Amino acid sequence: MSSETQLSLFGDSSSNQKDLIPTDGKIPIPPGTYSSITELAQHCNQCHRCVLGNTRTHAVVGRGNLKAPIMVVGEAPGQNEDETGLPFVGKSGQLLEKILASVNLSTDEDVYIANINKCRPPENRVPTTEEMTACKPYLLEQIRLVDPKIILLTGATALKGLTGDKRGITKIRGQWLEWEGRLCMPIFHPSYLLRNPSREVGGPKWLMWKDIQAVRVKLDEIRE
Ligand code: URA
Repeated sequence: MSSETQLSLFGDSSSNQKDLIPTDGKIPIPPGTYSSITELAQHCNQCHRCVLGNTRTHAVVGRGNLKAPIMVVGEAPGQNEDETGLPFVGKSGQLLEKILASVNLSTDEDVYIANINKCRPPENRVPTTEEMTACKPYLLEQIRLVDPKIILLTGATALKGLTGDKRGITKIRGQWLEWEGRLCMPIFHPSYLLRNPSREVGGPKWLMWKDIQAVRVKLDEIRE
């Protein structure tokens, strides 16, 4: 396939630059392609850079404040998200909102939520490395456009998908990392907390509340 053919997924090559997206998921989408999340979402809903595009109902791009200082990155949409087109609206999402609210953070003001993959993997399986690579340019564009001060990576897939760091989440959660000049903190995925609901000291829920408090402190410091 010629590179011209690969590039003209969404329109003929005489239309504007934003309509030219590499259909091959291994070829990155150039940074700066999108000037808004709305444009990006339109492309995500037509995207077939990986096989997940064949089975989605809606691409799930993001929700929350487009100018938020904190971005939460999840793994991939589940059934509720695929049906509504919004991330973290099922049980995990309700718990995530509760965790954020415990330190007075909300998606109306302080937080924007996105995922590594925009389309639901069948049976909610973990996205493959190929699928993550194909979708990553969309997340990179979201990060560029929202420009968060802090990125929270929920679970090992989000950590690996964005930064390439393959360490286990129990080892690395709660530690500040720098990625591309941005402050990131890996935290447990809310679904892990739903499976491990004990609040005992040192347990997953206790650790999560500790981590989110550290995030609140850091945000206040940055704002000072
Ligand atoms: N889990 C995720 O990682 N993302 C969602 O959007 C929903 C559940």
